[in-house]
Amino acid sequence: LSSIEVDISSIEEGQSLTVKWRGKPVFIRHRTPTEIEEAKAVDVADLRDPQTDEERVKPGKEQWLIMIGICTHLGCVPEGQKGDYDGWFCPCHGSHYDSAGRIRQGPAPLNLELPPYEFVSDTLIKIG
Ligand code: FES
Repeated sequence: LSSIEVDISSIEEGQSLTVKWRGKPVFIRHRTPTEIEEAKAVDVADLRDPQTDEERVKPGKEQWLIMIGICTHLGCVPEGQKGDYDGWFCPCHGSHYDSAGRIRQGPAPLNLELPPYEFVSDTLIKIG
């Protein structure tokens, strides 16, 4: 299937769901207010792959972070809510991603990739 629809209504704040899309894991994270505030507070000039938090989410849906769960270093799957930046940690070579999935420390060159997706409704997203 080139696109999938995912019901996100049961993902509580602070929880995540991993789905498969085109053979890849996609992380769907229902961010907490703290995670959102931390992501917004970062000085983008300090980032290796500069992106604002707003560029990582959809307008008005900032609680939902939807990313391809493949480390941009050599392709391992990072672990959620680990590492030093309240985001993801890749155990293969120690890359730390923040609560917007941006690379903050370690060998990965880029932020976690965002798949094409849209909100079909408040509780349904279409990926792909
Ligand atoms: Fe993730 Fe190397 S594959 S740090």
